[in-house]
Amino acid sequence: MLTATGVTKRFGGLTAVDDVDFTVGEGEIVGLIGPNGAGKTTLFNAITGVHPPSEGSITFDGEELVGKKPHEVARQGISRTFQTARTFNELTVLENATVGPMFGRTDSLPREEAEERARTFLEFVDLEDKEDELAGSLTLAERKFLELAKGLGADPNLILVDEIGSGLTPAEVNMISETLIRVRDELGISVLWIEHVVDAIMGTTDRIIVLNQGKKIADGTPTEVQQNSEVVEAYLGEVEA
Ligand SMILES: Nc1ncnc2c1ncn2[C@@H]1O[C@H](COP(=O)(O)OP(=O)(O)OP(=O)(O)O)[C@@H](O)[C@H]1O
Ligand SMILES: [Mg+2]
Repeated sequence: MLTATGVTKRFGGLTAVDDVDFTVGEGEIVGLIGPNGAGKTTLFNAITGVHPPSEGSITFDGEELVGKKPHEVARQGISRTFQTARTFNELTVLENATVGPMFGRTDSLPREEAEERARTFLEFVDLEDKEDELAGSLTLAERKFLELAKGLGADPNLILVDEIGSGLTPAEVNMISETLIRVRDELGISVLWIEHVVDAIMGTTDRIIVLNQGKKIADGTPTEVQQNSEVVEAYLGEVEA
């Protein structure tokens, strides 16, 4: 579905992503982990056309994404959530959720239809009772779920999720994990998920890709990755300490 080949991103003299190859298959939940500054978010920005790669190719269902603008990538069927939830706090929950369907896959969806879709996904993340509240009045966890609803409303085949669990309690992170499994199972949307909450990602993903200083150092099942000595040294050891 998503295939990245030789993806490199340089910012001046810094190589933030260094010759990375990976795939995300249909129906997969793939974790993307690694220390701070490893290049995880940069890889999301490369996929979505925010900061196109300096070198390499990224295809989605066989179509080259490099060179496409963010809204064109969205139209292709990829949406994302941001590391810092980007809700419009002075707008209502419903208005926020409507942004996804309005600027997603379909051009010029009439407002009522966009709201209808938004309600479907607010219900999916259990926020339907809050649709008239201001997004700014929500808890952090609720804002993260709203961000997810917004992303889902864009009608993606693949959603890129950047640290949706950070700052949440273990119980809230569990809810996020369960919701992402439902995204895959009930909506048929593949998930590429960056997260520092290692337990959540180990228990939920089919496969995990590990970046360290821009390079991919492992790619395998959660068990394989947990047993990989380079990963333990670069990342997991540090997390457990
Ligand atoms: N727009 C940019 N301009 C210059 N340097 C950048 C830019 N974006 C990221 N970087 C640098 O690229 C490197 C990778 O950053 P990135 O945000 O991808 O890391 P990350 O793996 O997402 O880390 P974290 O877990 O802290 O979110 C860092 O050294 C960062 O400072
Ligand atoms: Mg990041």
